[in-house]
Amino acid sequence: MNEITSSGPNTDASADFAGKVQLDSFSYDDHIVRLFALATLVWGLVATIAGLIVAVLLVAPQLSFSEYISFGRLRPVHTNAAIFAFAGNAIFAAVYYSTQRLCKARMWSDMLSKLHFWGWQLIIVAAAITLPLGITQSKEYAELEWPIDIAIAIVWLGFFGVNFLMTLINRRERHMYVALWFYIATIVTVAILHVFNNLVVPSSMIKSVPIYAGVQDAMMQWWYGHNAVAFFLTTPFLGLMYYFLPKAAERPVFSYKLSIIHFWSLVFIYIWAGPHHLHYTSIAAWASSLGMVFSLMLWMPSWGGMINGLLTLRGAWHKVAADPVLKFFVVGITFYGMSTFEGPMLSIKSVNALSHYTDWTIAHVHAGALGWNGFMTFGMLYWLLPRIFQTKLWSTKLASWHFWIGTLGILMYIIPIYVAGLTQGLMWRAFTPEGNLAYPDFVETVNAIVPMWWTRVGGGALYIAGLAMMAFNYFMTWKSRPGVYDEPVIQAAPLSKTYNNDPAVPKSRLEGAAVLDLAHKVDVWQQARWHRVWERLPVRFTVFVTIAVVVASAFELVPTFLIRSNVPTIASVKPYTPLELAGRDIYVAEGCYNCHSQQIRPLFAETERYGEYSKPGESIYDRPFQWGSRRIGPDLAREGGKQSHLWHFEHFREPSAMVKGSVMPGYPHLMTRTLNFKSIQARIKAANLLGAPYDRELTEAAEMAREQAKQLVQELVEQGGPATVRDAYGEEVKLEESHVIALIAYIQRIGTDLYATADSEGEEAEAEEKPRLTPEQEQAIDRHRALLGPDAMAAADASRGRKIFNESCGKCHELFGAGGQVGPSLTESKRNSLDFLLLNSVAPSLEVPAAYRTEVLMTLDGDLLTGIVSEEDEERLVLKTADEPRLEILIEDIEERRTSELSLMPTGQLDELSPKDLADLMKYLQSREQVELPKE
Ligand code: HEC
Ligand code: HEC
Repeated sequence: MNEITSSGPNTDASADFAGKVQLDSFSYDDHIVRLFALATLVWGLVATIAGLIVAVLLVAPQLSFSEYISFGRLRPVHTNAAIFAFAGNAIFAAVYYSTQRLCKARMWSDMLSKLHFWGWQLIIVAAAITLPLGITQSKEYAELEWPIDIAIAIVWLGFFGVNFLMTLINRRERHMYVALWFYIATIVTVAILHVFNNLVVPSSMIKSVPIYAGVQDAMMQWWYGHNAVAFFLTTPFLGLMYYFLPKAAERPVFSYKLSIIHFWSLVFIYIWAGPHHLHYTSIAAWASSLGMVFSLMLWMPSWGGMINGLLTLRGAWHKVAADPVLKFFVVGITFYGMSTFEGPMLSIKSVNALSHYTDWTIAHVHAGALGWNGFMTFGMLYWLLPRIFQTKLWSTKLASWHFWIGTLGILMYIIPIYVAGLTQGLMWRAFTPEGNLAYPDFVETVNAIVPMWWTRVGGGALYIAGLAMMAFNYFMTWKSRPGVYDEPVIQAAPLSKTYNNDPAVPKSRLEGAAVLDLAHKVDVWQQARWHRVWERLPVRFTVFVTIAVVVASAFELVPTFLIRSNVPTIASVKPYTPLELAGRDIYVAEGCYNCHSQQIRPLFAETERYGEYSKPGESIYDRPFQWGSRRIGPDLAREGGKQSHLWHFEHFREPSAMVKGSVMPGYPHLMTRTLNFKSIQARIKAANLLGAPYDRELTEAAEMAREQAKQLVQELVEQGGPATVRDAYGEEVKLEESHVIALIAYIQRIGTDLYATADSEGEEAEAEEKPRLTPEQEQAIDRHRALLGPDAMAAADASRGRKIFNESCGKCHELFGAGGQVGPSLTESKRNSLDFLLLNSVAPSLEVPAAYRTEVLMTLDGDLLTGIVSEEDEERLVLKTADEPRLEILIEDIEERRTSELSLMPTGQLDELSPKDLADLMKYLQSREQVELPKE
């Protein structure tokens, strides 16, 4: 190993006297490396094919013909397979191959190696089965439920960690090479992250409730999520790079000191960066800012790694042209450099405000995953194949082809997706000159990027084609292996217990110069002898890494849990009812969070689109939190009450029937699947154990859920919906027992607590204070809305609508500069929302602004006048009436005057219109600019 450590000859005393010392004989276990390499290949294909399937489901949602094949359930299969199955097995192959050689020792226990291998594959299989079944915790990259989590902890620490550490302790090479430092950091940190993010209270074998809620759960999750990227996809791959790149290039690592600096700064700084996934959300501002600052600081150590990698090739660039292994490494490291530049950039709050929730993030992670993790793995495998199978690589040419096609695939994936992300981000925040959202319909912003999604399908397919070439090359190489593998016996001296051969404390190189004493000390320190000492003490090294990680984590997380002002409570926020809780579990199981966020940021475009921004106190009963990270559909944080039950019912059955061009998959199975009411009790108990104040729910959860479901179905029927549906076998299913009712109950609750009155008996009080829609009005709105479906609106004619407007509304309202001034101008109103238009037209008196209060005047000569007072002084007042824009009346002529509660705007106007007229009018009201009147 010495030729690549660049740290001088082996200075081990025992080795110097090798002749006199008993040499150990041993061989390396390459069988385990072969197993992990094969698993890498197989799971690489599975992960990328799963990715291709979800990419196709986005552009062709009608293909999700089965509940198990729908985007929400399959996306976690793809991400988990890519991270833990493909990248996971790749790093195990790297660790098992290189650690044995770097330590001059066989793995400590063949048994543990095997347990590790088979345990890990079983976990992956368990994931591949449970995720499509909807068994999930809904935390990204930590979806697996608690029994599997326990298995992961055992396999990772008990089998892998112990085996690795014992191999280090029993090594025959005194100093640990830099690759081993990175492996240590990986093992320690992943264990910590995994355990703390997954602390839960189980409510059944397949369901659990996290001990954290809302803001705290979000902080924990992204502390984990970000560091999974750091310590699962970065540090082990840097270890891999430090071992395999110098081997393949036959050059020592460029700089030993640079590796020290960038190792420790990565380990210490990475941990802090998590909150940059939560900018502008309800987390504390200090946490978000800290996350940004540390993310920016990360740029330097990351590039330290890239530079160390690329400069290792100095003088060997001619080899790159000929050797596919080096080609993969060079492009992989370049992608590492790009991703670690882009990451800090995306953590800058103002950039993040644009990029977050869009495809930009998706492009970013795929540059990292396909470019860095993928290509480093391929490079390593092509280097390993001839060595582990003890033959020649079947075809170097095919490997080169793989490289080119893979590179093309990556570019064809990421470029359009960057464009898509930017397009969507800009469309979300675009306003018209009048100050309305330019694209008020969310689906418009989706349809704009569908072509880019198609291109991604092509890019992904190319990448998979490359993988298939590697699979073929792998198979052919394996076929030409020798009948029996040669197991060379290696001889090396064991390490002596005592060691007193550390390099002497170096002299300051500033000897004699006129500098401060301190400068001498700094110079001695930076010659890094101290680190040389650490490198021969694996246990101490591991402890130091643990301290660095734990201290940094504590700084970030502890205040979130201790400072109460981080989550101000809101009196009106109450725990979910049993039925809503069951509905929430369905939301989680279906993976709705993969497409929907529930977190409105305090940004103008966002509050305009979705409503009041999310408050920390609103999610205190949200276990797990559902803030989401990507908006393929609109945010749902204020969805409660926005649509009728019937709308949701129909939308879940077939989204595109309600919203043209929707890419949301249908959920017909929710209608016929019946709810297990009994299981709700355990959920309530678990939530209660964690502090949710329940009372009657603690014993009668099922009954209460049934009551609420009955009530909801009654409302659904009143809105014109069914009470029963037929399942696939023609059997009748009562909707009050179905999944969809629980889900609607949950959806209608989301984000409404903020506006509930503090008093739990408050519903009646609220009804008194604030006028509500009468049932007739609600029905009228539903009736009109039913006539204004996507097809009707598409067929509507704005120019006819203008004519109808002039006849019915233009007397009082101005639109695009034409019309009366009795009522408010509609040009600047929220007229892009159909809800707003219908509500104000059907129930104008619901809320009458002070400036438009109707006054009723009785004159001395017995005339009754109704109008809006626009000017008034001691002598006279000016009235706007429906027929007269300026009616002057002398005060002395008025006998009686009172203020009416009713709006001047007449009701029932829409009822007088034919369906076609109604649609035309609405189309005109929503149009962006003035249209011509129809020619007649
Ligand atoms: C593939 C991504 C995707 C998945 C998965 C998904 N949705 Fe959607 N959702 C969308 C898109 C896109 C829209 C916007 C178009 C529309 O209204 O259909 C939408 C719209 C909605 C709306 C209407 C919001 C509004 O105010 O207009 C609701 C409610 C909703 N989804 C709920 C859900 C629920 C509940 C689930 C899980 C059972 C789910 N979605 C799963 C993509 C998705
Ligand atoms: C007789 C006069 C009159 C007519 C005719 C009339 N409105 Fe109004 N409208 C008003 C007044 C006054 C208000 C403000 C008080 C209120 O909100 O009820 C108003 C408010 C509104 C608002 C709410 C505006 C906002 O910014 O809050 C909308 C929307 C609206 N009208 C739509 C219509 C439509 C559509 C028609 C035709 C079908 C129409 N109005 C016909 C008088 C009228």
